[in-house]
Amino acid sequence: MDKFVIKGGVPLEGEVQLSGAKNASLPIMAASLLTDGKCIIQGVPDVTDVKTMARILEFLGAKISFEKDRVEISPPKRPHFEAPYEFVKKMRASYYVLGPLIAKFKKARVSLPGGCAIGTRPVDLHLKGLQELGCNIDIVHGYIEASCQKLRGKHIYLAGPKGSSVGATINVMSAATLSSDTTVIEGAACEPEVVDCANFLKCMGAKIDDAGSPLIKIKGVKRLKGCSYRIIPDRIEAGTFAFAAAATNGDVKIKGGRVEHLQSVLDKLKEAGVKIKRIPGGIRVSSGRAKTPINISVAPYPGFPTDLQAQAMAMLTKVKGISIVTETIFENRFMQVPELIRLGADISIEGNSAIIKGKKRLEGAPVMASDLRASAALVIAGLIANGETSVSRIYHLDRGYESLEKKLGNLGAKIERVAE
Ligand code: UD1
Repeated sequence: MDKFVIKGGVPLEGEVQLSGAKNASLPIMAASLLTDGKCIIQGVPDVTDVKTMARILEFLGAKISFEKDRVEISPPKRPHFEAPYEFVKKMRASYYVLGPLIAKFKKARVSLPGGCAIGTRPVDLHLKGLQELGCNIDIVHGYIEASCQKLRGKHIYLAGPKGSSVGATINVMSAATLSSDTTVIEGAACEPEVVDCANFLKCMGAKIDDAGSPLIKIKGVKRLKGCSYRIIPDRIEAGTFAFAAAATNGDVKIKGGRVEHLQSVLDKLKEAGVKIKRIPGGIRVSSGRAKTPINISVAPYPGFPTDLQAQAMAMLTKVKGISIVTETIFENRFMQVPELIRLGADISIEGNSAIIKGKKRLEGAPVMASDLRASAALVIAGLIANGETSVSRIYHLDRGYESLEKKLGNLGAKIERVAE
């Protein structure tokens, strides 16, 4: 296992190039199962979750080759139909093969994901949506066993108690591309990754309207063709660099950053006194020492992303005054808090809110990563703490950030990956 060793106190300066969006790459790779043709996908980040998805697709019988950020996928003619527990326990997003398998091959067996570090994360909406399309679903020995004669388009209300679901929207949208008639998904997630996946499906010949709105319409077609597609830049990676730049009082040009994907985040940074500028091909984030405390409440897109709440909190640990971060989507997403407290942060949790009293100093210490985005928060905290911070269990981080230590190193950070 590797860890990061960080010597804090250096303002980040320079330019960083974003990788492609992990959360778009995973469903898009899975959606390549819907065609008989070859798909060429560019802008795929070199992260462990992408490798896990590639292994699942290979297990199902697909042929996959990688060349830098380009992946070629030739789907199987006669697949295995099954995503076993050994993959799904590593990565929940393995469930993205469910919709494409059932639509294309009328049969799928996918392990139930179970709980995860940040909450219970049920899959009821995925199953409800597919059932409404005509799919029979049984849960047998911890597996979702799905089969159908034919999928039929329908008007489906897909939002749950916490609002829309990115995963369920994409799974149902992908499956509906090969159904008869028209499917309307009401209460659909509007995240840019949903739109990217819809654009990939359209590139394969699917007929989809209004992805990016809460009402997506999909007119089923008989077959989809292979295509060549480029993934959008990763907005969560962009936000992570924006908070890192702001936290270190730095000045960073985030190349590939799209203002339109980050409005709620940039708005909060501006409220905190951070300078944001649109530049050709990206966003420039710069900050002086004086920042004001802010309150953040996460919400589905276009609201403030839950995936950036921990990184924002890391910045706020050193912003004078009281800030409040409220998590509304996942019930256990403050795993970074006890570790930030080990670095000297003053944070208390009340219900689903974290109350952060900004401190003058954080002091470096050994801390432990618990999930992907909490790990990024600890790295940011290490960058602004005095002395040395080591962040262990960074395999969590490697699931979703490509070469984070190299990109930060190029911005001047003193960060090293060492074997534990
Ligand atoms: C995706 C992202 C994840 C992000 C999350 C919310 C990927 C691979 N992951 O996860 O990084 O944090 O969106 O933006 O893209 N829910 C149900 N029933 C369901 C499905 C979800 O109740 O069947 C609930 C969840 O528990 C959660 C909320 O809906 O409270 C939103 O979850 P969802 O949007 O589905 O998250 P994921 O797609 O799993």
